[in-house]
Amino acid sequence: MTTRPDPTPLADWVASTREGIRDGRFPARAFNDADVHALEQERLFSKAWCFLAHESEIPSPGDYVTRYIANNNLIVVRDENGEVHANLNMCRHRGNVMCKAELGNASHFRCSYHGWTYKNSGELIGVPYMKEGYEGRLKRKEWGLVRVRVESYEGLLFGCLDPEAESLADYLGDFRFYLDLYLKQGAEGVEVHGPPDHWVAETDWKICAENFAGDGYHTPVAHQWGFNLGYFPSSGSTHSQGWAVHVPGKGHGIGLGHSPNFPPFGGFPDELVEDMRTSLSPEQVAVFEKTRTAVGTVFPNLSFLMQPFSLVPGEPGVRFVTMRLYHPAGPGRMEMYSWCLVPRGADQAYKDEAYRCYTLAFGQAGTFEQDDFENWTKVTRSAESTMVRDVDFPYIMGMESEPDPEFPGPGTALVPYVNDTNFRNLWSRWGDYLAGEA
Ligand code: FES
Ligand code: FE
Repeated sequence: MTTRPDPTPLADWVASTREGIRDGRFPARAFNDADVHALEQERLFSKAWCFLAHESEIPSPGDYVTRYIANNNLIVVRDENGEVHANLNMCRHRGNVMCKAELGNASHFRCSYHGWTYKNSGELIGVPYMKEGYEGRLKRKEWGLVRVRVESYEGLLFGCLDPEAESLADYLGDFRFYLDLYLKQGAEGVEVHGPPDHWVAETDWKICAENFAGDGYHTPVAHQWGFNLGYFPSSGSTHSQGWAVHVPGKGHGIGLGHSPNFPPFGGFPDELVEDMRTSLSPEQVAVFEKTRTAVGTVFPNLSFLMQPFSLVPGEPGVRFVTMRLYHPAGPGRMEMYSWCLVPRGADQAYKDEAYRCYTLAFGQAGTFEQDDFENWTKVTRSAESTMVRDVDFPYIMGMESEPDPEFPGPGTALVPYVNDTNFRNLWSRWGDYLAGEA
């Protein structure tokens, strides 16, 4: 068995990694390492705003899903008054898991061990042998489920374990401008098309977060067959057209690729386009009507992709949006959640067609998804080998580029679309958290 050399002490490694990011280097070790994973759990996922669910997953009183922040399993539930809560999925009596399903509807949760019962909002209301056993000493209101702070933006529900953290609005900052492209598809916004695809992947979450922060570089290579078969309508080259935009200091980034020949808002139904022109600001319309593909990451681990997909070469195709969460489940391992978001106001036929395109391309067995995970699992495997402990990767594309002064949106926008600037911004924020300086 190979003996792994002692890695650099973690605090030193974090400091030198942050320095390296400023110079355009990032270490392979970050992508599969038990110590780095443990530090991310404690310093990043326990401090940042982490995505939980879309409101349309739990539209009615009692609807719930179970999700994670770091290694904490949470029940995300809508109570009888319509308010959303995220409570630790752990009984306060002896710690049993309260809810063993991934989704459902319940007015109450009753523990299968000794029978303590909670309202779906988390208050303890039922204790067997309350009078005889506790003799008045147990105060029910002191023993509700442990609560997590929840805030939302345009239907996206986020949780944060840090009571001192900034508001979600401040955390997202100017990236809300870009999130609207995915979320304001018409006046009624979006909804999920069914529950997410959910699977375990032997892949580090950061590889996916980086890729979706605007890796237009891999597209013509990793997904080449899609170009050859015409599944990217009017695509042309993705290497130079569009912008890579990031929100400095926040970690969020998006790649906006466009094709000169592609019709404005191509792939959306006409009535929805009219709606979008009023639900979005003029600056947003100016950016988005040219955008054919938009692929972005909300730091740390929530990503979106919108693109038209056609089964008929030359046709504009149908727009679909995928939203995906990369939940770190161990070093080099994650749980993937992938949703299809559809415009709430569109007719069912369009929603179903968008879902079909999503499934073919980015669903669990989607062909683009397979292309990506084939590469991402290999990157993850490489990163745990002993020889890469001191190996860095280059992140130097676009180091000298100046922002586009004509770009109508907020943040820093660079042309060409393919460069490493969004990734340096992403890893620099990651470094801030790991150093305890976010
Ligand atoms: Fe839940 Fe005892 S652990 S009632
Ligand atoms: Fe890809």
